[in-house]
Amino acid sequence: MSVHINTIPLENRSVNYILVIFTVNEPLFYIDNNVEAMDHADYLKSVSIFSDLKDAELTSIAKNMSLSSFSKGEFIVMEETEGKQCFFITQGSVKITRSSKEGREVILAIITVGDFFGEMSLLDGETRSANVMTLEETKVLVLNRDDFMATLEQYPRVSIQLLKELTIRLRKSDLQIASLTLSDAEKRVGLCILRLADEQGTIKRGHVKIRKFPYQHDIANMAGTSRETVSRALVLLEQSGFIQREGRKLTIIDYLQFQREFD
Ligand code: CMP
Repeated sequence: MSVHINTIPLENRSVNYILVIFTVNEPLFYIDNNVEAMDHADYLKSVSIFSDLKDAELTSIAKNMSLSSFSKGEFIVMEETEGKQCFFITQGSVKITRSSKEGREVILAIITVGDFFGEMSLLDGETRSANVMTLEETKVLVLNRDDFMATLEQYPRVSIQLLKELTIRLRKSDLQIASLTLSDAEKRVGLCILRLADEQGTIKRGHVKIRKFPYQHDIANMAGTSRETVSRALVLLEQSGFIQREGRKLTIIDYLQFQREFD
């Protein structure tokens, strides 16, 4: 029996793993990373940027990945450090944050199983754009920069999916910026909509529908503002792409995003 101890250098620490090869007479039995790569490939199917790839292609990408575990509250990535790896979440969730000049934490996103992070600094060669901290015990598959870049070059379908993901992220950031232009009273209207969605809404694929949205004067009373402010806020929220209205029906387009902006 031979025992190999390998070290995977991660950005914030090193992880040791032990590969044990049992030798029982002849022929030799190797416990190699093929089985693990196939398990990882299975998971990769659920990651949007790899969704167009075939099983064999996924297995070949998975062979370059290693699994790493973090406990709750650990930093996986620190803002302004050099980026060397990209991460795919197989278990748990993380928050992506930046710190303001006064040291206040701003949450940019909360992501979970099937999501990935750490690609930005690999793509533009700049330092890490944000911190990434675990919200619970979390496992990630780690891909080094060279393998990440080689994957994009080898599989244009992955590059196109990645562009789609970055476009979705840009749209969400546009929404966030739009919400910054709302006044306090208009934000209270947003909060009211959120409460009504929690009480009466029905959720389907991230959209929440409120079938009988209350009249504007009732919302005004709930939000402690005037009917005119409610009317203006609803128009602004609709123009910014947060909600859609049709008669008395109101739909929140992306409930989680809406919750982040107004709760
Ligand atoms: P990178 O800059 O390498 O390290 C921090 C990571 O956080 C970044 O790559 C992205 O993967 C992720 N990130 C940064 N900004 C956002 C955002 N607005 N929404 C979601 N993820 C982000």
